[in-house]
Amino acid sequence: MNNKLRLGILGGGGDSLIGVLHRVASSMFDQYQIIGGCFNPNPKENKEFADSIGLNPNRVYDTFEIMIEEEMKLPQNERIQVVSVLTPNFLHYPMAKKLLENGFHVICEKPLTTTHADALELQKIQKEKQTAFAVTYTYTGYPIVRQMKEMIRKGVLGKIQKTDMQYYQGWINPIIHDKSLRNSIWRLDPKKAGISSCIGDIGTHAYHMLEYLTGMKVKQVLSDLNHLYSDNELDIDGTVLVRFSDYSKGVIRASQIATGEENGLTVAIYGDKGGFRWEQENPNFLKYFTNDKPLQILKPGHPYLSEFSLQDTKLPPGHPEGIFDSMGNIYNGVARKIKGIDNFEGAFPTLEEGVRGMKFIEKVVESNAKGNIWLSL
Ligand SMILES: NC(=O)c1ccc[n+]([C@@H]2O[C@H](COP(=O)([O-])OP(=O)(O)OC[C@H]3O[C@@H](n4cnc5c(N)ncnc54)[C@H](O)[C@@H]3O)[C@@H](O)[C@H]2O)c1
Repeated sequence: MNNKLRLGILGGGGDSLIGVLHRVASSMFDQYQIIGGCFNPNPKENKEFADSIGLNPNRVYDTFEIMIEEEMKLPQNERIQVVSVLTPNFLHYPMAKKLLENGFHVICEKPLTTTHADALELQKIQKEKQTAFAVTYTYTGYPIVRQMKEMIRKGVLGKIQKTDMQYYQGWINPIIHDKSLRNSIWRLDPKKAGISSCIGDIGTHAYHMLEYLTGMKVKQVLSDLNHLYSDNELDIDGTVLVRFSDYSKGVIRASQIATGEENGLTVAIYGDKGGFRWEQENPNFLKYFTNDKPLQILKPGHPYLSEFSLQDTKLPPGHPEGIFDSMGNIYNGVARKIKGIDNFEGAFPTLEEGVRGMKFIEKVVESNAKGNIWLSL
């Protein structure tokens, strides 16, 4: 019997960055079957792409509205059950809203929406409908990230006193200095990206990771953002001071103009008993510091790791786990939730976490606009 979840996809076409990651991730644990969707707003390209990945043309739709309308006409045991939303940011809200209203489970890319108010609206509908909803802060799926979360939860680092999260990229550097180029991409267009480029796109990963790992909530932020040119409406670089309390503080640093950097997400968390340093570009090595022992390096797949970390490891130690595995583990968590199988806390980032991410983005932009002042989250 085929008990795979029937998956629809919005966006993520052949012309996209993130589509392939979701398609591979969804197949990793044999939990999903891609049924159809709308991958591209251009009907010809949409159909050609769907055909290239072997989908039934009857389940490929010109718009998301048509997809939902037509799928709702099908019997429940044929209808798409869960939909991944992989479009530019401004489409997340209308798509997710209509999907929730019609009872679909949703896996949505970050940032959840373009405003905190829209995010709260989604949360309200989801509470009524009780569907599963994940926001793909992709990096939380790495086994070693889950190990860090478990060790911090168990108090291995002691009281967290200093955090330093960094996400540095350089890809926008060749674009930003050319006026016509910088006006041509959706990530710099407030109508499509929302109120922030850098903080919304990658600062939000660093912020989410910080709260995901520590289990603590940031209380206050103070930011200093850089737009580089006066006609560039959105930030492309920023530093955010964060406070958990008077005695636990940190920094989130994000940049799209850190020349030559690729996806330099770095986690550094220090408690009074120990510390962690982890780099996304080298994800199978976790540095674990203590006050009185030599540096230890933890790697995935070993029996000394937590059950949460080991649950999704697929091969024996020494077979490196990468970004596809990380997203695959998140998809697996969502599948388990939909199928009613027990999950570890943190198996996938939730809608509530996406809502908080939107609040973070808004407060960081506000702090900068008001002259770099402290604001409460
Ligand atoms: N989790 C991560 O690490 C990560 C990484 C990259 C991007 N993202 C997020 O994923 C989303 C997409 O980013 P991207 O870089 O893949 O963008 P992209 O511009 O490369 O691709 C967008 C895709 O959406 C399609 N699309 C646009 N309008 C559509 C519509 N009306 N209906 C159906 N499809 C439509 C485009 O044809 C394209 O296939 C963004 O929200 C971004 O923030 C997340």
